[in-house]
Amino acid sequence: MRVPPIKIGAGYMMPLKIINFKQMKRNLTITLFLIALITPGLSCLKPFKQDNSGNQNSQFQSAAGNYQNFCAGCHGDNLEKFAAKEWMDEEGSSSAFQSIKYGIEDIGMPAFQKTFSDEEIKELAEYVKKGVPEDKALLKPAVTPGGVVESEVQKFVVDTVVSGLNVPWGLAFLPDGDLLISEREGKLYRFSDGKLSEPIEGLPPIKASGQGGLLDLSLHPDYETNGWIYLSYSALTAESPKPLGNTAVMRAKLQGNRLVDQQVLFKGIPDNDRSHHFGCKLAFDGKGHLFFGIGDRGQHFDFPQNLDNHNGKIHRINEDGSIPADNPFVNQEGAMASIYSYGHRNPQGTVVHPVTGEIWVTEHGPRGGDELNLVEPGLNYGWPVISYGINYDGTVLTELTEKEGMEQPVFYWTPSIAPCGMTFVTGERYKNWSNNLLVGSLRFKYLERVVLNGHSVMHREKLLEDIGRVRNVVVSPDGYIYVAIETPGKIVRLVPIE
Ligand code: HEC
Repeated sequence: MRVPPIKIGAGYMMPLKIINFKQMKRNLTITLFLIALITPGLSCLKPFKQDNSGNQNSQFQSAAGNYQNFCAGCHGDNLEKFAAKEWMDEEGSSSAFQSIKYGIEDIGMPAFQKTFSDEEIKELAEYVKKGVPEDKALLKPAVTPGGVVESEVQKFVVDTVVSGLNVPWGLAFLPDGDLLISEREGKLYRFSDGKLSEPIEGLPPIKASGQGGLLDLSLHPDYETNGWIYLSYSALTAESPKPLGNTAVMRAKLQGNRLVDQQVLFKGIPDNDRSHHFGCKLAFDGKGHLFFGIGDRGQHFDFPQNLDNHNGKIHRINEDGSIPADNPFVNQEGAMASIYSYGHRNPQGTVVHPVTGEIWVTEHGPRGGDELNLVEPGLNYGWPVISYGINYDGTVLTELTEKEGMEQPVFYWTPSIAPCGMTFVTGERYKNWSNNLLVGSLRFKYLERVVLNGHSVMHREKLLEDIGRVRNVVVSPDGYIYVAIETPGKIVRLVPIE
């Protein structure tokens, strides 16, 4: 018995004018559930149920509870992101109090004055100050090095390949097996024979603060003949009175330990002083195009729904930086010609499906609204008009989860996992994971395996639980899965065992 593919992604919105979408999804779920019930062995085909009924705002009384509920998503369950801060050594907790109450808008710290009383904020500030783990051992990954991990359908060993990094971001394998690694703070290394090179020279000016810095790396599909390395980064365009910038894409060639022939192919506009929501994973489609996303740059009411700027968009350019003649908005006056789709919040996973060539994107939502989207040209993915998430401070962001003319995600994560990095599993090494999606979770520190059937999520599995904040995942040319992890920064490889 064949189960028809369920199409709930972009591009299948036409019938929605007559059919209630939720009703349609519920009917499909029921149908599939019944099929699964009457057909033993088919239960894996039941699409994943999306349940957003849990009240995300349930208030805890204690500072620890408030911390877990409102803060841990960005600062870590164990307050580990606070560990290295200078203000931790200050007397008292008044600067922390100020930060929590009023927020620090330009770096992405929300204000909580509407959420908590001053007393609660004071308790949180004290909690944050004294709760920092003195024993860094708390941060040790739970996976035993060398130990065999028995996941649902695949056994593997976690092999640490590179350690001693800060925040690794992009990974690109050179034909000789060497690995190029970018660090967010603005450094590029070549890893060769078990050693990291000196930082590679010739990088552009980079705005390395908050979520900004040197971001993704990708080799041109014909790298062996043309030598082009593509880099995405937060371009620094002015230093004072405040550093300004936006996401940019450059290509260059590597000569010794230096980049040469640099060409800036794309620079997002407008610049701003925010240090968050830069996007920007790079993906070639093998047909001459480069795809990448830029986030809303922390100003969601201004940018994602308007086509006169680059923020909150997925872009498509040609490999030389020119604009494809068939981009959806090339002929629309006032629209940025590189825009492929719009209404995105902060896309940090962009991949081309190895079989269908479709563009799949994960994006960070607000609290409880991370999305997996199937991106099609010219469509609007709804941010910030529709969302399954709420504001960080617990207030309502939008009442709407769907709207005509705006696409539904294929899947959304509540609570947010903070998806970063994504790849399809290709090649022969992990046969039971073939064409599954792997998605990194910064928030919950694991790698998520997502089984798709067409455009539906059928099953999810947590791999590498507690390994650390997962920043990126790629499949190497020789078919191994590599995962980049933060704090402490390292790169591990999953070595399959039959
Ligand atoms: C959306 C993500 C986000 C959430 C949610 C969030 N913060 Fe922050 N917070 C940040 C960022 C980004 C910074 C600035 C960079 C840093 O210090 O890590 C920051 C900074 C701070 C600082 C100041 C640190 C300094 O160096 O001055 C404090 C204190 C703080 N946060 C406490 C909290 C508390 C308590 C909560 C929960 C009530 C919370 N934050 C929720 C993102 C967040």
